[in-house]
Amino acid sequence: MSGGSFYQRDRRWHPPAYDPGYKTSITRSPQKPLIALDNTLSEMTGPVFGHETLGPLDDDMIRNFAKDGEPIGQRIIVHGRVLDEDARPVPGALIEVWQANAGGRYRHKKETYLAPLDPNFGGCGRTISGPDGSYRFRTIKPGPYPWPNGPNDWRPAHIHFSIFGHGFAQRLITQMYFEGDPLIWLCPIVATIPDKAAIERLIAPLDMANTVPMDARAYKFDIVLRGRRSTLFENRMEGN
Ligand SMILES: [Fe+2]
Repeated sequence: MSGGSFYQRDRRWHPPAYDPGYKTSITRSPQKPLIALDNTLSEMTGPVFGHETLGPLDDDMIRNFAKDGEPIGQRIIVHGRVLDEDARPVPGALIEVWQANAGGRYRHKKETYLAPLDPNFGGCGRTISGPDGSYRFRTIKPGPYPWPNGPNDWRPAHIHFSIFGHGFAQRLITQMYFEGDPLIWLCPIVATIPDKAAIERLIAPLDMANTVPMDARAYKFDIVLRGRRSTLFENRMEGN
């Protein structure tokens, strides 16, 4: 393996592309065996983002779409750290998030759920991780919504995440769920994840220590991207 390459994806940890319980995966999944390719230079080096690419309200979904007041719903802070598989911080990672409003409705032209749009809520935000890999954004807790899969399937409340780390090999698209939501364990999409421990890693616990009293509750969500093989210097752990 050449220097600077990333660990291979652990496909036992990620959901399989084909799972009949998640109906659209039947037609979306590859019909032939996958072919593994080595990472190329572009997958290992790009992209790089700077804070100057963000607007001042990009990390504040309570205010970034507000027109005549603030959005309706439970005010929350979502924060955590972006780390690699060796638990090293990933600074400068671009974190993009999108979600339904408090009623479970997306602001999207193909959205058909009967819950109303909130004129003061867009549902999109982004931020960049700091030197210690930490990130934070403010939003409204999304509502669950029904979706056409089985006769009565509901998505648990969730926030979609897209993360760009230090190379395209570190791209991760995932969803964050909220501690205590009974719909998590009924969801056919969640059920495609083979390992219960992997599901639990997607559930953000309530974090009272970072809650802002009389304002917003906090939820903590740490994100692990693929690690690089070449830059783990184990002797540093011993202080040499
Ligand atoms: Fe969704």
